[in-house]
Amino acid sequence: MPKCTINGKEVEVKEGTSIIEAMQQSGDRIAHYCWHPGLSVAGVCRLCMVEIEGNPRVQIACNTMVTEGMKINNTSEKVRDAVKWGLDFHLINHPLDCPICDQAGECGLQDQYMEYGKYDPEMAEAKVKKHKVVDLGPTVVLDSERCILCSRCVRFTEEVSKTNELGIFNRGDRSEIGTHEGVELNNKYSLNTVDICPVGALTSKDFRFRQRVWYLKDAETVCNGCSNGCNVKVYFNKEGFFRVKPVYNEKVNGYWMCDEGRDIYKFVNKETRLLKAQVRGASGWTEMAGGAAAKNAHEVLKNTSGDSLALVLTAQYTVEEFDAIVSTFVNEFKTKKVFFWINNKETFDSFDGLLLRGDKNPNTKGLLKVLEKHGITATWADLTQGLGNGSIKTVVVAGPENQAVFPDFQERVKELSKAQNLIWLQAGKNDALMSLTGNVWLIPTKTFVEKDGTFINHAGLEQKFKKVTTIVSEALTLTEAALLLAGKNLTIPTATAQPFMPMNQREDQVTLEARKKNEFVFRRGSL
Ligand code: SF4
Ligand code: SF4
Ligand code: FES
Repeated sequence: MPKCTINGKEVEVKEGTSIIEAMQQSGDRIAHYCWHPGLSVAGVCRLCMVEIEGNPRVQIACNTMVTEGMKINNTSEKVRDAVKWGLDFHLINHPLDCPICDQAGECGLQDQYMEYGKYDPEMAEAKVKKHKVVDLGPTVVLDSERCILCSRCVRFTEEVSKTNELGIFNRGDRSEIGTHEGVELNNKYSLNTVDICPVGALTSKDFRFRQRVWYLKDAETVCNGCSNGCNVKVYFNKEGFFRVKPVYNEKVNGYWMCDEGRDIYKFVNKETRLLKAQVRGASGWTEMAGGAAAKNAHEVLKNTSGDSLALVLTAQYTVEEFDAIVSTFVNEFKTKKVFFWINNKETFDSFDGLLLRGDKNPNTKGLLKVLEKHGITATWADLTQGLGNGSIKTVVVAGPENQAVFPDFQERVKELSKAQNLIWLQAGKNDALMSLTGNVWLIPTKTFVEKDGTFINHAGLEQKFKKVTTIVSEALTLTEAALLLAGKNLTIPTATAQPFMPMNQREDQVTLEARKKNEFVFRRGSL
């Protein structure tokens, strides 16, 4: 374990550690644009300069290994001068159009030219004009003038997604990132290139120009897009949620996440949500508060025998909620007719080799564990039979939060609507549910960003997460719904509660030792 001195501090590092990694370890700031801990070393931006005692020339930190007794600094005038002139070369053809750039506010190049006072170009020649608004594919747009040719995006498609769509074309100051004719940047992980682009050259079609980043708050949570359970950060403000980015976790997702997971913010926003409960009786639909609807449904449940009652669960809720609702059914309603609604049956066990799982639920393992704990063995065939012969009269359903991954939704609604009384707990709006006839209770539930809980991923890893904010104040967790359905009392949030009040950010928001803040993704190219 070599020891070295960095800016006067002694640091001990593992054998084979580069100076830049040692500086990250010691908490020293160092400019870096091409280096990324999840990619190979390119050493092309030449901005991670350091001075090593005994060496007459400054060197790059990302491609120099620490050796015993090394004395390193990156604060001397010599280093600052080298960085300043390196920066000048990067800015020769850069448009410096920060006010209209989507990266402004989280761009290392912007921070650095401000720090070095390089507001005006020192070149007499006109800037080389390059291609702007280049449509690279379904998700990403390129502005070549802002590109500093760090090659991170190229290395990502070569080394991580292994799709090789991107390359550097032409030579010298005409060099540009691009794809071959007829080829698109179109892979399941393409938006990671936007995260790792240290400047505003690559932007996400979904997010660009929708918000300035300084108007967004963020919080860490666990993606509920599939059973991998990637650690992510969600970005939001009082208008709603706007984007999702990965958080490093070596045991789950490394530095990356898939493009599908980027969409999970869409079904938590108000526009797609069931904002009030809808209860349908002989006189048609009536709107009421979520808690009041659950209490109303209790009036039916208290007169229902356990034999004629069933519970249907999707694997989209937390372990704590499953435990609460299943134990209510087993202990209060005296029924073990609890059924697992499996979506994506054909692809349930598939895996793309990187992150994405065919099981599009965040907590299948958690649900199975709870079902086992309560001795539940019922199969879907039992439910079909019970509905067919009329022995099951009342069904409570905890429907999917992410309806997009339930292609059989309409079919199941039709099947379950054979029950005399259908009590459907659901976060999002759905036309199939609103077109039901008969006795129906549609009760809004909270999404994963509105509650604390635990998901167990495909590998059996338990990940706890914390509530981010409230979006629908009338919505209930399954735990709250279970209490109310059982006739118990609960303090129900009122419509006057302030939505979008972020909870205090807690250090243990995702309680997993291996997780740490991914400085390299979220402080791109920062000093
Ligand atoms: S587009 Fe971004 S990530 Fe790709 S080479 Fe240019 S600056 Fe680097
Ligand atoms: S791989 Fe699964 S858990 Fe990870 S980001 Fe994609 S959908 Fe979310
Ligand atoms: S040369 Fe070291 S980060 Fe680019």
